[in-house]
Amino acid sequence: MTTSSSATAIQFEGVNKFFGRFQAVKDLNLEIREGEFFSLLGPSGCGKTTSLRMLAGFEEADSGCILLRGSDVTSAPPNKRPVNMVFQHYELFPHMTVFGNVAYGLRLKKVRDPELSRRVQEMLRVVRVDGLEGRGARQLSGGQQQRVALARALVNRPAVLLLDEPLSALDVKLRKQMQIELKSIQHQLGTTFVYVTHDQEEALLMSDRIGIMNQGRLLQVGTPREIYGRPADAFVADFVGSLNAFDLRVDEVSGGRAVMRLADGEHVAVALEGAVAAPASTIRVAIRPERIRVTEAQAAGADTGAPGASRVGGVVTAVDYVGSLTTYRIETALGLIAAQEANDTLAPDLVVGDRVVLSWAPDAAFVLPPSIVEG
Ligand SMILES: Nc1ncnc2c1ncn2[C@@H]1O[C@H](COP(=O)(O)OP(=O)(O)OP(=O)(O)O)[C@@H](O)[C@H]1O
Ligand SMILES: [Mg+2]
Repeated sequence: MTTSSSATAIQFEGVNKFFGRFQAVKDLNLEIREGEFFSLLGPSGCGKTTSLRMLAGFEEADSGCILLRGSDVTSAPPNKRPVNMVFQHYELFPHMTVFGNVAYGLRLKKVRDPELSRRVQEMLRVVRVDGLEGRGARQLSGGQQQRVALARALVNRPAVLLLDEPLSALDVKLRKQMQIELKSIQHQLGTTFVYVTHDQEEALLMSDRIGIMNQGRLLQVGTPREIYGRPADAFVADFVGSLNAFDLRVDEVSGGRAVMRLADGEHVAVALEGAVAAPASTIRVAIRPERIRVTEAQAAGADTGAPGASRVGGVVTAVDYVGSLTTYRIETALGLIAAQEANDTLAPDLVVGDRVVLSWAPDAAFVLPPSIVEG
């Protein structure tokens, strides 16, 4: 189907929202493209739902503008906006059949048979509940109800579909399945989705781009890879996955890298990538556990790896086995470091007390910028 990545579907321009004296959304500036799967991610109370409700017209912004496909809708009532919303609790009409639920919006718009039936059936196929059209809404499982809710919203062909934690009432397995299905439905229809979640894995899996919020502020917008690989600050880094952070004393700056020398040929390096680090200063550095390789000290030998690679010795203090992965906690000169290894055939079989060498590639660590929001 048609997905244009260039046109702008949604613009927030300097949007502020107060509840009494409490500011729930602070100077929100954001552009979402046509056909994009965009997620707003952040902890409870950070302003995700409020932002979505302003987009839908259920809340009015105190200042700033909201544009949908270029037209200013800041003060337009909900029914004058080309958007539909799917909620956490799907709120199907309980006394109607599946067909009746999905047909409801079309009947309001005076769409008649045969087009009505054709569009309802088509959408039921898309969300894979065709065959259940005669069922009462109460005779459906949670996953089926959520699919019908989706069909009910999508059948109106909204320019934008807003989804507020639509999967959070489902059990883990069904939720994972629906994540993949939702993404594929979005892809198939090419509708712009704005998806709200506080589940970082869900956001990483489903989204073309993610906006991370905290305390009413949008901290970073980027692709899942950008957000995960180069988080804008410590809060983002910590919120999207686990993280080791440590202080690196700058002994040397060369080739765009800051290096800290440790005992016995060990050293830690970080690519500065625009950050400034004067010799003898200290910078905060982060690395994801899965980027660290753990080798038994004896097996590691004297090989110091690629130029710019880091290498630091330590002692295993904890081993957490979770099936496909093992997380080791290792006491080092940098402090306690977590390293995660896939449990494939090459995985080292380490126990508490083992001496190990941690190493990582030159680009694996990054400088952690100071927090954007205090908190
Ligand atoms: N109608 C309201 N009146 C007063 N305060 C409100 C109202 N709606 C939201 N808030 C406050 O605004 C802040 C943001 O709320 P919002 O519902 O947008 O958070 P959220 O990011 O969606 O959180 P969650 O993940 O828990 O759903 C919260 O502190 C909330 O208590
Ligand atoms: Mg919410």
